[in-house]
Amino acid sequence: MLRLKSETRPHHERTEALVRLLDADLTPSAYGHHLEALLGFYAPLEAKLASLGLDSVAGLSIQTRWKAHLLEADLRAFGHDARSLARLPRCEDLPALPGVPEALGCLYVLEGSTLGGQLILRHLRRHFEGKPSGAFAFFTAYGDEVGPRWRAFGEAINQASELAADEAFDARVVSGAQETFDAYAAWLRQEQAHAVLSA
Ligand code: HEM
Repeated sequence: MLRLKSETRPHHERTEALVRLLDADLTPSAYGHHLEALLGFYAPLEAKLASLGLDSVAGLSIQTRWKAHLLEADLRAFGHDARSLARLPRCEDLPALPGVPEALGCLYVLEGSTLGGQLILRHLRRHFEGKPSGAFAFFTAYGDEVGPRWRAFGEAINQASELAADEAFDARVVSGAQETFDAYAAWLRQEQAHAVLSA
């Protein structure tokens, strides 16, 4: 976990800079578009992750970590229904994730984002007080359990690394995380450019 943190720091910084949800002038519509972009990344990525054998990783509880359905719940508050949700664009340049180690690195990125997500949640609640903006299901995700869920994830990933006892395994986890950060940033950049052009 320490290696993941240090070797993805610049990737985190680049991705974080693209998230405008802490802006003082954030509008409900911009928040809604951000949720649409997130669904376009999470839905295909979680589907891909679900086919990669993560159920076999001890302590991961992968089935309890999916979040695309939370984005869908938030988007329904913005007037979306099943049909319009299905029509939203989906990212096609997902990280390659050739095996379980890369999938773990990818999951590290998605899980870690629940930490910064707590800051975002506090901001959204204050910023949109009294305005219709949904229940923030995605950013609330684990509720009061963010810390324990993150520690459990860290233990599972450290344990998988100890079990493999192989430098190449760890290097693959890190590259899966870096590639995921980069794909996430590229997708946000693309969706933001699209939103500006169609505004
Ligand atoms: C405005 C946007 C963001 C802010 C302000 C932010 C802020 C933070 C903060 C403060 C932490 C450290 C929390 C702690 O140690 O308790 C953190 C950790 C992390 N964030 Fe973000 N973040 C943002 C966006 C993202 C995004 C979009 C992703 C994923 C694509 C992400 C992935 C991670 C990861 C993986 C960690 C764990 C680092 C580690 O300790 O290993 N963050 N973030």
